[in-house]
Amino acid sequence: MIILGIETSCDETAAAVINGRSILSNLIYSQVLEHRPFGGVVPEIAARSHVHHLDTLISDAMKTAKLDFSHLDGVAGTAGPGLIGGLMVGLTMAKTIALVHDLPFAAVNHLEAHALTARLTEGIAFPYLLLLASGGHCQLLIVKGVAQYQRLGTTLDDAPGEAFDKVARMLGLGYPGGPAVEKLARIGDPQRYKLPRPLKGREGCDFSFSGLKTAVARIIETEGIVENHIPDICASFQDAVADIFMDRLGNAVLLSNEPPLKRVNNFVVAGGVAANKLLRTKLREKSADFGLDFTAPPAEFCTDNAAMVAWAGAERIALGLIDSLDAPPRARWPMEHQPELTMGRQPVKF
Ligand code: KG4
Ligand code: ZN
Repeated sequence: MIILGIETSCDETAAAVINGRSILSNLIYSQVLEHRPFGGVVPEIAARSHVHHLDTLISDAMKTAKLDFSHLDGVAGTAGPGLIGGLMVGLTMAKTIALVHDLPFAAVNHLEAHALTARLTEGIAFPYLLLLASGGHCQLLIVKGVAQYQRLGTTLDDAPGEAFDKVARMLGLGYPGGPAVEKLARIGDPQRYKLPRPLKGREGCDFSFSGLKTAVARIIETEGIVENHIPDICASFQDAVADIFMDRLGNAVLLSNEPPLKRVNNFVVAGGVAANKLLRTKLREKSADFGLDFTAPPAEFCTDNAAMVAWAGAERIALGLIDSLDAPPRARWPMEHQPELTMGRQPVKF
């Protein structure tokens, strides 16, 4: 099945074409330079930039795939969660292409797209335990099948990517913070600062990062920004995030193996924060301790991209989960809220 995917939920304008698990094109225009002066994503600038770049990007994605719209079997566009202006741009474009070319349309949940990415890139089977860690979300879930997600825990305050971005901002490392913090952490001492690990040792699979972020802010208030200390702060912060993830993973394994749930054998990470090498290494080791296989998509498929949206669309369309063209953009949209999606759906024959 050949699917065009469109992603505009935040500050990446992206278009991709896939044919089954084969990625024919996967183009991303990153707006990072447009937002950098503001230290974070400015919704108005993001929406305008999507309008400016999306049509050329789609046309380039089609050219790279050496296809035209008549070859497509469907169109998938991110419908939420995300910044509403950007979602409206991408969703309207996806619906228009579907309408004009009479194609099945999938209104994709961005979190679901992250959650299913490892099936595109690594071909893994259901069920699996998933840590979805990004700039806006942090969840542990059991992915039982397409549209079947059981949430075990979520963040009570900030998302880990947000914490990486805030720490980077406080240290003057620019935006986005994750890659900058990771780079400096490589030459830093993770033991130098004793940072808190909120909720560590407690029951359940919820997360909290705001106390960790505040602890970093206190260090900076006390010491000022000392150039030589920055790598140590980055390493100590990153180590604390890794520790929190590993602790929560332990609890998730216990919960996911409780009857009546079927035992899961695979632990999968997804979302921008899952691009982090140290976090991947530590989670791989921890998974082995629990006898779980560990799967991480290549880093460029952890951060936002349209191939994952095309894939989620392909998975849904293959099951006849087609959305009507009045599917709304949703700034907030928990991925386990699937029943609402069934409204306006018509089965499609292939
Ligand atoms: O999944 P994503 O691209 O967008 C959202 O859906 O939020 O995630 C972006 C987040 C940003 O906060 C960014 O700083 C973080 O992922 N991130 C990282 C790394 N690369 C991106 N965090 C830690 N280490 C990284 N290497
Ligand atoms: Zn994302």
